[in-house]
Amino acid sequence: MCGIIGVLGNHEVAPLLVEALKRLEYRGYDSAGIATVNNGKLDRRRAVGKLVNLSDLLVHEPLAGKSGIGHTRWATHGAPTVKNAHPHRAGGVAVVHNGIIENFRELREDLAATGYVQESETDTETVALLIRREMDQGARPVQAARAVLKRLQGAFALCFLFDGEDDLMIAARKGSPLAIGWGDGEMYVGSDAIALAPMTDRITYLEEGDWAVVTRKGAEIFDAEDRRANRPETRVAVNATRIEKAGYKHFMAKEIAEQPVVIADALKHYTGGGATPALRLPEGLSFAGIDRVVLVACGTASYACHVAKYWFEQIAGLPAEIDIASEFRYREPVLSDRMMAVFVSQSGETADTLAALRHVKEKVAKVVAVVNVPTSSIAREADLALPILAGIEVGVASTKAFTCQLTVLALMALQAAAERGVLTPAQVAERLEELRALPGLMNAALSLSTPISRIAKDLAKAQDILFLGRGPMFPLALEGALKLKEISYIHAEGYASGELKHGPIALIDAAVPVIVLAPKDALFDKTVSNMQEVMARNGKVLLLSDAEGVETAGPGAWKTLTLPEVAALWAPILYAVPAQLLAYHTAIAKGTDVDQPRNLAKSVTVE
Ligand code: AGP
Repeated sequence: MCGIIGVLGNHEVAPLLVEALKRLEYRGYDSAGIATVNNGKLDRRRAVGKLVNLSDLLVHEPLAGKSGIGHTRWATHGAPTVKNAHPHRAGGVAVVHNGIIENFRELREDLAATGYVQESETDTETVALLIRREMDQGARPVQAARAVLKRLQGAFALCFLFDGEDDLMIAARKGSPLAIGWGDGEMYVGSDAIALAPMTDRITYLEEGDWAVVTRKGAEIFDAEDRRANRPETRVAVNATRIEKAGYKHFMAKEIAEQPVVIADALKHYTGGGATPALRLPEGLSFAGIDRVVLVACGTASYACHVAKYWFEQIAGLPAEIDIASEFRYREPVLSDRMMAVFVSQSGETADTLAALRHVKEKVAKVVAVVNVPTSSIAREADLALPILAGIEVGVASTKAFTCQLTVLALMALQAAAERGVLTPAQVAERLEELRALPGLMNAALSLSTPISRIAKDLAKAQDILFLGRGPMFPLALEGALKLKEISYIHAEGYASGELKHGPIALIDAAVPVIVLAPKDALFDKTVSNMQEVMARNGKVLLLSDAEGVETAGPGAWKTLTLPEVAALWAPILYAVPAQLLAYHTAIAKGTDVDQPRNLAKSVTVE
């Protein structure tokens, strides 16, 4: 979850490192730091909090040198303090690290027994001290790294820089992704291609257990058994200029607003741009012989899976189960060679989702990844990857990735229905036309931003908020609550509308707003009854429905928001927009950090 960068350059490296860290800040922002080698001398600067604090520090205490490493931290071991910030240094070595060294306690005791005592509470300093001890005993940097890497357990990515060595970095990957970038007489190491994008598009991904000796001439890569490994160099097109707010106050606002365009792009990609849409999912996506789909993900992506479960079952009659990735492999799921396993992830690097994927590999008929980052580990390790084409998502709160995930999952469910003969080609075409209407409807939903911002001023005063939904809108209630809590820090819960009376209704009073996500569908009347139950107890209902729904529900709601009419099946995609706007404006009213909410990181690469 932390971000790593390393540069062996031909110019002053500190500005490059800071620029790259800016692109990695989505991985954590508890602290940031850089180390450089200047005239053979290793030195470092570290600051707590956002990267801007490190930039300020560098104005007053600049760091010269053409070789350097940098880090942006999401704290795992030890509080976010300067002492715990990376790079960690012990004698002549500095190291930046992403992941967790699971056996660090045992290693730390071993070090202490030989007089090597840590200053910080981190597992990373343990690694630096182990290297130092090797070097104190006469090992050269490469020998020392080789010996120490063998002793480390867990999932991690590391990059080392050495005093007296201004043409050397050592990089290692086990569990956490790490890429080597090739420049012109310069070399780079980065957590991902996004970090390296302004410097190079020539990338070599290290594989499990690999470590690399990097100099300005290139990189020698070794596998876990220290054999020379030939890893391919690939061209990775990441548009460096797209990570801009484009006039919006926050990335989240920009990303919410982009949804009509990116959904239209995804639909065009997978259904063609002609007058008559047709399913054009990759050939490898066949449901022949598949009797069950299991959908696995974390957080928002798991709610997309939850919606898709309704779709696979309702549209295609195909049994679908869902699981949170961190639970999946530990519950010993029953796997079969007639099962398709679908892993959904914006980043494609979420540690739990990746581990779940590895758990089923070779044990199910097909492993499919639905990802936003096509070069990610999850995309590369799946049998088949379907990119969701949302474009880079920077806001920690996932918005456009969610609706693009839903769009691709909807198309997969339609493909299953077509292959299984549950829908005729004409019926599939009808459903596709309904999906094609979504970008226009989303534009209309976006125009609710102003009324939503007014309602949000009241919501911001609440301590608890409930979201209700039925059928495929139930997972959207979960997503609405997650979005609200992660950026506004207001406690929120999502419930299936019918479940309220089984306990949560005890929470209802005039201070607990209840947000009901309910298009006028076949179950609407039942939801209205649930709303009445809330209102009878003095509850404040905010109803989101279409014009017919608002009229049918009658008076009594605290507020209503009228959305355009949408095909009931696809309503979760449309209603995601006002749910996101509610969270966004409530966070603005509370003055929280919308794009980088406290304690979170965009990409969760630790278990
Ligand atoms: C979304 O708003 C969250 N920040 C989070 O739940 C996220 O969806 C989850 O961590 C999964 O990430 P992924 O899609 O990159 O795998």
